[in-house]
Amino acid sequence: MLQVTVTEHLLLHQSKSEAATGQFTRLLYDLILAAKHIWRNVNSAGLANILGGTGTVNIQGERVQKLDEFANNTIIHCMERSGTLYGMASEENAEVITIPNKFPKGDYFLYFDPLDGSSNIDANINVGTIFSIYRRVKSGNREPEGEEFLSEGSRQVAAGYFLYGPSCMMVYSTGDGVHGFTLDPSVGEFLLSHPNIQIPEHGSYYSVNEANWLYWDEATREAVSYFKGADNPRGKPYSLRYVGSLVADFHRTLLYGGVFMYPLDYKIKDKPRGKLRLMYEASPLSFLVEQAGGRSIDGRQRILDITPEHLHQRVPLIIGSPSDVDAVDAIYQRHCRAVPAIA
Ligand code: AHG
Ligand code: MN
Ligand code: MN
Repeated sequence: MLQVTVTEHLLLHQSKSEAATGQFTRLLYDLILAAKHIWRNVNSAGLANILGGTGTVNIQGERVQKLDEFANNTIIHCMERSGTLYGMASEENAEVITIPNKFPKGDYFLYFDPLDGSSNIDANINVGTIFSIYRRVKSGNREPEGEEFLSEGSRQVAAGYFLYGPSCMMVYSTGDGVHGFTLDPSVGEFLLSHPNIQIPEHGSYYSVNEANWLYWDEATREAVSYFKGADNPRGKPYSLRYVGSLVADFHRTLLYGGVFMYPLDYKIKDKPRGKLRLMYEASPLSFLVEQAGGRSIDGRQRILDITPEHLHQRVPLIIGSPSDVDAVDAIYQRHCRAVPAIA
């Protein structure tokens, strides 16, 4: 019996959600097409002279990998002509990407991290694409202004990611549960493989880059020690798993439970910073984890409540099973630490 495709799933099972419109189905279809192109190139990266850096640096100050650039250009190419967007923003582009006048505009706005975990590409380790979708605040053909591009994560109508690993997966939510699909290359379709994903109440893994220990404050050190020690519900240490690709670390946390942390660090004295980007990493994954019964905070507040101040804003991220995030939250509250405003 044929398994359920994404399009069928959207039409049959997501009819209740605000996103179940023809335009949204078209948006997702074009995003899936872009992901298939990216997957094909990730798959043959070692053979197609597409590994390594481009020699340029992006708005984040990071060295751009060839696959970053390919993924970014592919998504922009597929999405600008989809007739579903009035604009988009990419991790790789300093400014908002407007839709050329020769293409019809739509009602949605797309944020995306075209290739997450790109430092891992040359080592053939999982990478992915993260996306976040908002519906236009104001209708009409007037060019949207700045504030329309910046909304709290709680206003997302959909979010998800593609994971390019041993298999190619798509995980998404339109606010009606979290659902996972696996690409069947023989038919070129994403087929429903993980319906209604629910994150375990607590897990046995914690995921953080402990090399930053020196740069953490007392609250974060206590939170990480909680998982390394025996004074927790397990009565023994959690296992540490850290891939260095957010999308892979998050996917394991979503399925197995536990917590992923990229806390505030003080690498630059008196200039505390989170590393991960709010609009196209923390917000979409927080939308998913809450739909799956989990929690996501920055150490002070719910990620989805944060009012963005600028397109590439970075935030601390503590995300995962509800009781594991609760434990971290309690430690931060006890330290009565107001997470300093992030630069
Ligand atoms: P990107 O490749 O999109 O720049 O994201 C990299 C991020 C994220 O994927 C991962 O969790 C984090 O960087 C790893 O950072 P560290 O190497 O500092 O641990
Ligand atoms: Mn990323
Ligand atoms: Mn990226």
